[in-house]
Amino acid sequence: MDLNSGLPPGVAPYYENRGYQPESLYPPRRPAAGAYSVYPAPYYPPSVPQYTPRVLTHTSTPGVLTRPKSPSRTLCTSKTKKALCVTFALVIVLAGGVVAALLLWKFTENKCNVSGMECGSSGTCVSASLWCDGILHCPRGEDENQCVRLYGPNFILQVYSPQRKSWYPVCRDGWSESYGKAACQDMGYGNSFYSSQGIVDDSGATSFMKLNVSAGNTDLYKKLYHSDACSSKTVVSLRCIECGINTKMGRQSRIVGGMNAALGDWPWQVSLHVQGVHVCGGSIITPEWIVTAAHCVEEPLNNPRYWTAFAGILRQSVMFFGKGYRVEKVISHPHYDSKSKNNDIALMKLQTPLTFNDKVKPVCLPNPGMRLEPKQPCWISGWGATYEKGKTSDVLNAAMVPLIEPAQCNSRFVYNHLITPAMICAGYLGGSVDSCQGDSGGPLVTLKSSVWWLIGDTSWGSGCAKANRPGVYGNVTVFTDWIHRQMKANS
Ligand code: ARG
Repeated sequence: MDLNSGLPPGVAPYYENRGYQPESLYPPRRPAAGAYSVYPAPYYPPSVPQYTPRVLTHTSTPGVLTRPKSPSRTLCTSKTKKALCVTFALVIVLAGGVVAALLLWKFTENKCNVSGMECGSSGTCVSASLWCDGILHCPRGEDENQCVRLYGPNFILQVYSPQRKSWYPVCRDGWSESYGKAACQDMGYGNSFYSSQGIVDDSGATSFMKLNVSAGNTDLYKKLYHSDACSSKTVVSLRCIECGINTKMGRQSRIVGGMNAALGDWPWQVSLHVQGVHVCGGSIITPEWIVTAAHCVEEPLNNPRYWTAFAGILRQSVMFFGKGYRVEKVISHPHYDSKSKNNDIALMKLQTPLTFNDKVKPVCLPNPGMRLEPKQPCWISGWGATYEKGKTSDVLNAAMVPLIEPAQCNSRFVYNHLITPAMICAGYLGGSVDSCQGDSGGPLVTLKSSVWWLIGDTSWGSGCAKANRPGVYGNVTVFTDWIHRQMKANS
């Protein structure tokens, strides 16, 4: 996460909570030259090695060269001259071979670099014009993966331009809801669609993606083109689900140092049970999907059969009689590391969708570009212990905890470089208020632009509510894109 990036002097610093960060979180999608030794691209071996031996075969079969045909016979008469001729011919053949190999290598490499892009590290090249066109070309669909996203607290729809390697907002000119529905489908929301409006763009964009309305009834991406003009001066703001609205205002209510919650305060909070016992918390993001922590679903608990989710119930003692939701799928982050707790996030897909009401509602997934304050007030909730080494609470608790800047959280006196970009710290360096055992997987939310956002999922901490040992949460913003891809692939 970047702090203070690109700010004019005098403006308070904020968190630029960037989205998908392939460089720091995942192995490179398109490996650099050196990486080819690790991931040999199937494109090269068939051509290059086949060619190289040919050079060698020629040079290693002197019979071909020592029996020169007529033209060389007139030139190479004496024995010394003959020897000279042989070495000369050898050098020529070798040089020719090197030139040919270089040309061939350049040609095969250009297939991806000039007219196309490589699908992940698969070696398959797909023409740039076919990326984000709505049709799968790559074996694993990488060409249609990251084509749309929502940016900032106002849900500005942006489209990725593979040619310009950048994101552009969509000009509202010619926009209709059907495009919004297509974009929501693309982000894994299925047929869920809430609203699409034109809003004045505050990002200062000077280039847009515009709809070519005369392009006929084709795919959304085929209709989009670059334009520096947008006559409506408004861009598309898209919401795929009505999220982040709680029924009552969250009273600063004790978690450790929190207060009992009321029904409807944290309607996205779920209790995840294994054999009738609360094990972890979770957050509702769609009627079918729950965000939790990867450490909650470590083997053997990665089996969905173990889990039941309870929503809209404040007391554990009441859940025994309530309706639990069985889990159909458990998806743990592929790069979750159980030692460092890096990438501590997982998804659960329910067997039957939740019905939303005053007590059960989804929270919003954070968009990149959220601009959180360095000490942005956030709220944690859960049935975890109310003191270190305590037992889980019967009633749902919630507490306000401010974010802690990554540099401060990583300092020698706090977590001494254990905090990765996929983690976010919140709490008080003085201690006394914190999440604790049993709160894991549950939400760290913040209110911004009248919407509640899932900024973190409860992950770890050293003890509970101790001085200089704040709570550490999964940095959900960096996983938003991964979550969308999972929802889309497992719909
Ligand atoms: N890992 C814990 C769990 O499984 C959550 C710990 C949070 N600790 C903290 N000090 N904030 O519930």
